[in-house]
Amino acid sequence: MKQLRIGLIGYGFMGRTHSNAYRKVNNFFDLDHQCVLQAVCARDEAKVKAFALKWGYKSVETDWRKMIARPDIDAIDICTPNNSHAEIAIAAAKAGKMILCEKPLSMDGPEGRKMVAAVEKAKVPNIVWYNYRRVPAVSLAKQLIDEGKLGRVFHYRAKFLQDWTISPELPQGGAGLWRLDAKAAGSGVTGDLLAHCIDTAIWLNGSIERVNGMTETFIKERTHTLTGKVQKVAIDDACAFLARFKNGSLATFESTRYARGHKALYTFEINGEHASIAWDLHDLHRLQYFDHRDESKLRGWRSIHVSDSDHPYMKNWWVPGLQIGYEHSFIHQVADFVKGLETGKPAGPTFRDALETQNVCDAVLKSAKTQKWENVAKVK
Ligand SMILES: NC(=O)c1ccc[n+]([C@@H]2O[C@H](COP(=O)([O-])OP(=O)(O)OC[C@H]3O[C@@H](n4cnc5c(N)ncnc54)[C@H](O)[C@@H]3O)[C@@H](O)[C@H]2O)c1
Repeated sequence: MKQLRIGLIGYGFMGRTHSNAYRKVNNFFDLDHQCVLQAVCARDEAKVKAFALKWGYKSVETDWRKMIARPDIDAIDICTPNNSHAEIAIAAAKAGKMILCEKPLSMDGPEGRKMVAAVEKAKVPNIVWYNYRRVPAVSLAKQLIDEGKLGRVFHYRAKFLQDWTISPELPQGGAGLWRLDAKAAGSGVTGDLLAHCIDTAIWLNGSIERVNGMTETFIKERTHTLTGKVQKVAIDDACAFLARFKNGSLATFESTRYARGHKALYTFEINGEHASIAWDLHDLHRLQYFDHRDESKLRGWRSIHVSDSDHPYMKNWWVPGLQIGYEHSFIHQVADFVKGLETGKPAGPTFRDALETQNVCDAVLKSAKTQKWENVAKVK
């Protein structure tokens, strides 16, 4: 069996989900490559050593440049805050490494374009962790849409709601709170949460051409953890936008961290001439489906328990009726990435695919400033 030797950078939330995926993927998927936890990198030596011990990494680094230079690493996995993705990815591409990069691809479109150019010049396999595509119910939605079950699509609506930044006492910046610091995150909910909704939407319903957005920063100043000073908050706390897809359908998107009671309420709905589909992350193993072509007296919303062996990915897991969860979307992404290496048909979203999402985010943020409709830059 060939080896795929992983070098993971960043051991926070995503570092754990990815490590778990590499450890489990070969137990559940038949692949020609064995994922090997070769090295993990973070700046705190004691903490990174403890992480390596806990998860089974063979070695540690405290400087990502050293890790990229190592000949015994095949793939670099970027799990660091958004402002470091480009520098690490471009250096890794130059070193000829495969790259699995967390989302959003970059701080903005122009930076993302440089990353796309770097991986395509180096011809290195690349993927971005928009993992919700690989929740089996979401993959099933894609199958149903591709089979033409919906017919012409009229509407797409998505939201991603949280409630963890409502307190004005919450600082910005530093470990755990870099999402509130525009210098580390690029944007607020637009790049953090709506980027997921946009990736899924483009995957299911095609390109988005035009957007009209509004943003708000409810808490204008917060103490910065690193400087200790009260500083302006430069991220968007909430964002809502209208969009027009290339296929003529209309969309609404909404995201906030100020929706009391919601922790990670990612939902989408898509309405076509024959059928509608709805999905909710809080009930992620179910897909809601309504088909107008059903016999009228039986017509109604079906709640499909996506756990049967003919549902996407499910034959690799337990027996029909037993569901899986959030962590599995990452395992599926690793399995698809590795299969892509083996078949020569790369799994998406590639950096190029993810740039499209980045361009939509840029257009939304621009529109919020200009208060006009904005065209989404095309990925050339
Ligand atoms: N796919 C998803 O659903 C999803 C969910 C959460 C986060 N993310 C993305 O994953 C990335 C990381 O987010 P997170 O929630 O894991 O953050 P986190 O704060 O939990 O972890 C970030 C890690 O990066 C490390 N780090 C920062 N700078 C570094 C450097 N120069 N060298 C080495 N390590 C460094 C930190 O020490 C920390 O371990 C972000 O880009 C975020 O947008 C994606």
